[in-house]
Amino acid sequence: MMQTRTLGTQGLAASAVGYGSMGITMAYGAADAEGGSSAIQRAYDLGVTFFDTAELYGWGENEKVVGQAVKDFRDDVAIATKFGYTHDFGFDSRPGHIREVVENSLRNLGMAHVDVLYQHRVDPNVPIEDVAGTVKELIDAGKVRYFGLSEAGPETIRRAHAVQPVSVLQTEYSLFERDAEMLFPTLNELGIGFVPYSPLGRGFLTGTAKPASLYEESDMRSWDARWQPGNFEKNVEATVQLAELAASKDATVAQFALAWLLAQGEHIVPIPGTRSAGRVEENVGAADLVLSEADLSRISEILPLGGFGSRYPEAMIPNWQ
Ligand SMILES: NC(=O)c1ccc[n+]([C@@H]2O[C@H](COP(=O)([O-])OP(=O)(O)OC[C@H]3O[C@@H](n4cnc5c(N)ncnc54)[C@H](OP(=O)(O)O)[C@@H]3O)[C@@H](O)[C@H]2O)c1
Repeated sequence: MMQTRTLGTQGLAASAVGYGSMGITMAYGAADAEGGSSAIQRAYDLGVTFFDTAELYGWGENEKVVGQAVKDFRDDVAIATKFGYTHDFGFDSRPGHIREVVENSLRNLGMAHVDVLYQHRVDPNVPIEDVAGTVKELIDAGKVRYFGLSEAGPETIRRAHAVQPVSVLQTEYSLFERDAEMLFPTLNELGIGFVPYSPLGRGFLTGTAKPASLYEESDMRSWDARWQPGNFEKNVEATVQLAELAASKDATVAQFALAWLLAQGEHIVPIPGTRSAGRVEENVGAADLVLSEADLSRISEILPLGGFGSRYPEAMIPNWQ
C-alpha cells in the first residue's frame, strides 16, 4: 500500500509519489498520448492519487489526455492544474484571465472541479493578493479545492497565504537542484506542503542520459546546460556512483533520487513524469525505499551541492521574492 502524505493544513492528501504529465505532450521529444494514458492507469493501479498537469502543456491537450485517462477513477484522485502563462510564454495572472483559464481547464479535463489550482509563475504585474483573492472565489464557487503556487519566493508566499491559505508550493527540487531548500523555513512556518518538480533532474537521474547532440531539437535536453559537454560528463560520473550505491540495495538510481526527496521531509510529494507504464512502476517503487543515515551521507558526498549546469538559461530563472 502506498503511503499517504498531507500537503498543507487545509486537508489535501496525496500518495507519497505523484505523477507529472508534462512529458506526455511536450519538453522531452515527441508527444505520446497513448503511452501517457497507460502510464497514468498504471500509476493509479499502483496507488498514485496525485496527478499534475497545466494549461501550458499543450494549451489544453495535456489536460484532455489526463482527464480522459483518469475518468474511471476521478473521485479517488487529486488533479492539479496551473494557470498564468500566455501563448508567447509571458505571464498573465489577471483575475479575468484566471477565471477564463479555469473554465477552459475544467472543460478540457471533463471535470466539475480541480483539486489543486496553481499559479504557474508569479506575475510581476498583478499583486499576489489579487491572485489569491480570485482563487478564493473559485474555491468558494466549488470549482477549485486547494490553492498552490509555483516558483514563488517567501514574501510572495506569505502575502498570498494571508488572503487564501496556500496548501502547496511546487518548485524544481532534486539531487541536481537544491536551491528550493532556502524556501523550507517559510513553508514549515506556514504549514505549506512541497511538490518537487523535475525530481529526476529531467530524467538525468535515471542513468539514461545521452549527450545533448543526440536529442531532437524539440527536446529541451538538446539545449539544457546539464547535458552540455563539460557538465554532462560530471553529471554522468555522479549518476554512475549513485547507481552503484542504489544497486547495493537492489534499487535503481531513479528510485534513490526519489527516496532522497521523500527523506527530506514529511511534507514532500515528488511528481516524476514518464510516458512509460514500466517506468511508473520503477518510480513508484521509491515509496517503499527507506534510505539509511549511511546512504544519505554517501549521497551527500557524491553530490554535495547539486548537479553541474544551471537548471534554466539565465533569463528563465524565476526571481524568488
Ligand atoms: N511548475 C513547473 O514550472 C514545472 C516545470 C517542469 C515540470 N513540472 C511538473 O513536474 C513533472 C515532472 O518533471 P519533469 O517531467 O520535468 O522531469 P522528471 O520527472 O525529473 O523527468 C522526466 C524525464 O525522465 C524520464 N524518466 C522518468 N522516469 C524514468 C525512469 N524510471 N527511467 C528512465 N527515464 C525516466 C522521462 O522520460 P520518458 O517519458 O521517456 O520515460 C522524462 O524524459 C512534470 O511532468 C510536470 O508535471 C512543473
